Amino acid sequence: MNKQWWHEAVAYQIYPKSFQDSNGDGIGDLRGIAARLPYLQALGVNTLWLCPMFASPMVDNGYDISDYRAVHPQFGTMDDLDELLAQAKRRNMHVLLDLVLNHTSDRHPWFESAVSDPESPYRDFYIIRRGQNGLPPNNWRSMFGGSAWERIGDSNDYYLHAFAVQQPDLNWENPLTRRQLYEIIHWWMDRGVSGFRIDAICIIKKDLSFASLPPDGPDGMANPGELWQICPGIEAFLAEMRDEVFAPRGAFTVGECDGVKPEQLADFIGDNGFFTTIFDFSYTNIDLTEGKWYVPSGFTRRQLRDAIFAGQRAVCRSGHGAPYLENHDQNRSPDKYLQPQERCYESKTMLGMLWFFLQGVPFIYQGQELGMENHPWSSLEEFDDVAMPSQYHAALRDGLSPEQALAAIAHRARDNARTPMLWDDCENAGFTTGQPWLPVHPDYPAINAAAQMADDKSVWSFYRDMVKCRLVDAALFYDGDFVPRFEECEHIFAYERGNGASRVLVVCNFHDGVTEVRLPSGMLLLGNARTNGALQAGPYRLAPFEAMLIRLSNQ
Ligand code: GLC
Ligand code: CA
Repeated sequence: MNKQWWHEAVAYQIYPKSFQDSNGDGIGDLRGIAARLPYLQALGVNTLWLCPMFASPMVDNGYDISDYRAVHPQFGTMDDLDELLAQAKRRNMHVLLDLVLNHTSDRHPWFESAVSDPESPYRDFYIIRRGQNGLPPNNWRSMFGGSAWERIGDSNDYYLHAFAVQQPDLNWENPLTRRQLYEIIHWWMDRGVSGFRIDAICIIKKDLSFASLPPDGPDGMANPGELWQICPGIEAFLAEMRDEVFAPRGAFTVGECDGVKPEQLADFIGDNGFFTTIFDFSYTNIDLTEGKWYVPSGFTRRQLRDAIFAGQRAVCRSGHGAPYLENHDQNRSPDKYLQPQERCYESKTMLGMLWFFLQGVPFIYQGQELGMENHPWSSLEEFDDVAMPSQYHAALRDGLSPEQALAAIAHRARDNARTPMLWDDCENAGFTTGQPWLPVHPDYPAINAAAQMADDKSVWSFYRDMVKCRLVDAALFYDGDFVPRFEECEHIFAYERGNGASRVLVVCNFHDGVTEVRLPSGMLLLGNARTNGALQAGPYRLAPFEAMLIRLSNQ
């Protein structure tokens, strides 16, 4: 394994709109991020992933790009971005941008040309098909609900959109489209970014039969499944992109790739894989039934453990993972994984310990290091997310009352992760002096960065210590083996990580009661319930939600 900078990376995901506002317009921006670099450095992270900050009508908060080479004015200017990149570099931090290559905005000049002129050379940049008898070309459902096809004017032609109507899918079959996208990637590498998180990349290939499927819902439509998710043939596109751009430029890439099978992992993240790494969805979506926010799966903690461990075993055989607990598409982890009465310092730090020492490059999502919780939403109007209405209406169609529907989707809503970062106990939690674009969590007087940084027993301080521990032995945590332990114990999440004789053990009591385990001898490097130091081998009574990182004695 040639040494690469990301072998020592601890990444932090920033949602620019909600991180820090610098000019009082209620919207986070690039200067705001730059001003918070010292905070990020104090936490110890060394790699930043910025969610989209490109020119966009912001229908899907920037995942609808109208100019790949421009900064949205609400986030600042290209100079602000260059300045942020330069400042990050001075602090030895790498910056990753979000590449949205499956679709553009419907306001992108390519699309505007494609739909306004049937002879346009950009027509073939998109997926346009004839309708049938006034109906769309097939019955595929978009990820955000409703048909995946939208009629072009009053013609009989339709364009495909896997997400919102305003996000037309690009036609990857067209080599000219691919060429343009690669040039954009080169352009950003030239500007000094270190790599990318790559959005929805596993649906760029569509099955060219465009066959209708047996309906899987009362709307008569069907989720296209493998007809667009890791559809055979995608390998050629991904290999070409790797060979044309990522490999020659030495870019770090993390793919948003749902549905990669264990036997495909080597192609995706192996030595010459399409990406450096990919995100594993098997455990973060464990609470959902068929992607429906309002149908909780009722998963057990044992199922969660099995999902995380199965993912690790598969990843370790093939390459490196990108463990994470939260992102901008998830609700907050204390709400997802803990009962309301269980949410406390111990349980939140235990959740941190649970995943942070897994193999690969860990990604912390903004606010996770504070133990931020879901927002107490009170009405549908408070939400911003374009994905909300379809989930809400589907819930009503499935027989939920308006109150039940609101409660169910409020729990899962992506906006839970997108409310402003809680900096201090000033008005609006120090996020803005203006009117915040999404409500500020009312708990900010208790849960905020300033208070937690001053408190040695806070979720923030625990995250800082975890980052330190990881960086002291970066190679072990990035690349070491993964061995589940105590699988027979109902409440214990435990695993060993190791590089030959150098081994650590992570033990978490995922339970609100005491659990007994026999621990081997070692040195407690970090715990949330007892002081660091030597541990004798023997039986231990773990406190509720106790978590430990132990360096094992050489046998
Ligand atoms: C990805 C993003 C999500 C966005 C979607 C469409 O899943 O993470 O936020 O809505 O792609 O671009
Ligand atoms: Ca602003």
